[in-house]
Amino acid sequence: MARAALLVSSILLSCLVATSYGATISSLMRTLVVTASPAAGQVLKAGEDKITVTWSYNNTFAQGTDSTYKTIKVKLCYAPISQVDRAWRKTVDDLSKDKTCQFNIVTKPYNPSNNTFTWTVERDTPTATYFVRAYAYNSAEEEVGFGQTTDAHKTTNLFEVHAISGRHTSLDISSICFSAFSVVSLFGFFFIEKRKAKSSQQK
Ligand SMILES: *[C@@H]1O[C@H](CO)[C@@H](O)[C@H](O)[C@H]1NC(C)=O
Ligand SMILES: *[C@@H]1O[C@H](CO)[C@@H](O)[C@H](O)[C@H]1NC(C)=O
Repeated sequence: MARAALLVSSILLSCLVATSYGATISSLMRTLVVTASPAAGQVLKAGEDKITVTWSYNNTFAQGTDSTYKTIKVKLCYAPISQVDRAWRKTVDDLSKDKTCQFNIVTKPYNPSNNTFTWTVERDTPTATYFVRAYAYNSAEEEVGFGQTTDAHKTTNLFEVHAISGRHTSLDISSICFSAFSVVSLFGFFFIEKRKAKSSQQK
């Protein structure tokens, strides 16, 4: 009985520990100023167009707030409009479970100013509405600060990516050819059958 109670309490404790260490977006300070080149509403082509991202420490925060910052990861993130009914893109406050920012743009050592990076939107980026977010990590790889190109509600300054349609086009063409082939062979069989019927009638 005592052992069971011990077991249960240790399980509970480990759950508590496991959950209390994950950083949450709501607890992070927005200490980074992040800007990206696309204008609000601009449409970028995946695999072709580029995004230039700049980021820096917001000096309104006390000096040294960034003393634990070691690396910066810049990511492309889904805007709420592109998350509707898509559980696999869902925003979760616990960042270890969050699926908002699935595309890495760049990882760099932390520098309080003068950071810029130009990224070509990857070919396999899905058609959707996006913004850019940067996370600061400490030496234990925990999120300790962030910044993003949109407001807190993720409604301003969003841009779109349109996926390459090349693969779809060739798929479409092959399915059209296949359908045409089916129709032609159907008529072919029909005529052969008709001929057979005619010739057997003539006999
Ligand atoms: C810097 O942070 C302050 C306080 O949160 C904020 O009011 C200000 O808009 C930020 N500056 C920039 C350039 O984002
Ligand atoms: C900013 O970075 C550029 C290129 O890396 C460098 O030439 C320039 O001197 C830097 N400016 C400052 C203020 O650090």
